[in-house]
Amino acid sequence: MKKIRCLVTAGPTREFFDPVRFVSNPSSGRMGFALAEAANDAGWEVTLVAGPVSLPSPAGIARVDVVSAQDMFEAVDSRFEFCDVLIMSAAVSDYRPKLREAHKVKKAELSLTIEMEPTIDILKTVAARKRQGQFVVGFAAETRDVEAYALGKMESKNCDMMVANDVGEAGAGFGGETNRVIVLARNGSREDVGPASKTAIARRIVEKIAVAIGAEG
Ligand code: CTP
Repeated sequence: MKKIRCLVTAGPTREFFDPVRFVSNPSSGRMGFALAEAANDAGWEVTLVAGPVSLPSPAGIARVDVVSAQDMFEAVDSRFEFCDVLIMSAAVSDYRPKLREAHKVKKAELSLTIEMEPTIDILKTVAARKRQGQFVVGFAAETRDVEAYALGKMESKNCDMMVANDVGEAGAGFGGETNRVIVLARNGSREDVGPASKTAIARRIVEKIAVAIGAEG
């Protein structure tokens, strides 16, 4: 049987406004790395697009390191066509500073207001051209009305599955070893997964994708 080709994104992005300062978020990349490992363990061919994280490369997985949302977009956009499954677990910065100074801005000259502009929505952009047979999984990081927002994102970003993550909750989301998620699918199914290690959660998510695409076992 042909190997399932899986593209996974992980970690935060960094949006620099001078060579030494950036806007980012606390994502550690652990959930995405665990997903890449679980997909690799399932026998899939995995490419991991990673933002700046301090995690070792999992064995047997092709890794592409990126910094900004724009870099991540280019890495995903150029590979999307060649994957069967996209798992977009990266915490992409929604905004970036409008200007990036070539040299470090001196404190006396640094304005306390930084003008921001939106980054490209990677998931929405690539999933809009999803073809028959491709399966797209998004993540929804929320601090309230988790399920309702996640369902909305599944629709608006043309995803087949959405992993809803309450990042305001203790023991869930950014940074930690454990997580608790709700996996929602286009067919209306819903499953609470965890609290459990990110490894265990990743295994369950990959199992569910395998069932959905008919690649289990
Ligand atoms: N995402 C993306 N590109 C962006 C922002 C988000 O591809 N510029 C992806 C994330 O990787 C995730 C999904 O979109 O799979 C949802 O991300 P989230 O931050 O929860 O949603 P947003 O679209 O940013 O919406 P909001 O900030 O309003 O909740």
